[in-house]
Amino acid sequence: MRDTALARIEEAGDAAALEALRVEFLGKQGSISALMKTLGKMSPEERQSEAPKIQALRTDVADALAARKDAIDAAALEARLATETLDLTLPAPHAPRGSVHPVSQVMDELAEIFADLGFSVATGPEIEDDWHNFTALNMAETHPARAMHDTFYFPDVDSEGRRMLLRTHTSPVQIRSMVAQGAPIRIIAPGRVYRSDSDATHTPMFHQVEGLVIDKGIHLGHLKWTLETFLKAFFERDDIVLRLRPSYFPFTEPSVEVDVGWQDVGGRRVLGGDGDAPDHGWMELLGSGMVNARVIGFAGLDPKEWQGFAFGVGVDRLAMLKYGMDDLRAFFDGDQRWLDHYGFSP
Ligand code: PHE
Repeated sequence: MRDTALARIEEAGDAAALEALRVEFLGKQGSISALMKTLGKMSPEERQSEAPKIQALRTDVADALAARKDAIDAAALEARLATETLDLTLPAPHAPRGSVHPVSQVMDELAEIFADLGFSVATGPEIEDDWHNFTALNMAETHPARAMHDTFYFPDVDSEGRRMLLRTHTSPVQIRSMVAQGAPIRIIAPGRVYRSDSDATHTPMFHQVEGLVIDKGIHLGHLKWTLETFLKAFFERDDIVLRLRPSYFPFTEPSVEVDVGWQDVGGRRVLGGDGDAPDHGWMELLGSGMVNARVIGFAGLDPKEWQGFAFGVGVDRLAMLKYGMDDLRAFFDGDQRWLDHYGFSP
């Protein structure tokens, strides 16, 4: 039995024939299984002499089946390798890849530009409390400026009884930075902000970058130089001209609105040049000012020792100006064709 079984296994031509043999010999109804069952009826002496022989037969057949299976698999692989070819000159299938969104790209660029000026990046929570978003920024409960922010409030108060909201600007990061790290400070804080407002130029979520410098002897000149240096680098033009106008924010004193000069180039407004020149104009770009002494005090620093400036600028707006995009809402539609159109494809 052993020799015929081994010979037949050796002759099996493919995996199916081999499987049939496995069933024939070792399956539940198989011939070797039947031999095993005869052991039960034998006398103890007979069983002692027969059992090792049957076991050995079973092992030999199982080993032969495994060896033959390896040989058949190897032969099948050989055959496939011999017939299959790969044409490396065929065009690759089109696989669309992602790209960096203009907003993320602008935030990355800002982080790089400001890193060169010694600023690090700070962050704060988007779910903020009333104190950081308003009170510590010199907007007490009854301050009229609160009404201008169209705030999304949460219905509940937190465990310490504070009213929670979606931050309406990145300015609370000013407070968090001063409280956490003291002075001096040089940070920018990019991130999402929320206001209940929606039209072609407003989306309920948008992006700002806050800037904050706290040190000794800081004055408006430092603010103007910093903004000029940043905007020249960002718009990659040396002829960026700024105009500072008196304004009002509760958390800066004095407050300045910053306009940037533009010029008409073939019907398009291109940033650069003195806004007062013919065919030129001014565009409002950002809010800023010297950090209000009260705010420095609220954040736990001595305003007699420390001064500083702060600014806040819309990131989406910066991206629109830099890349000539005209509809803010398209930023948040996720339409690949829009990204392609403005060159944001990999
Ligand atoms: N937080 C202000 C806004 O959202 C901008 C600003 C920031 C103004 C810092 C002054 C200083 O409109």
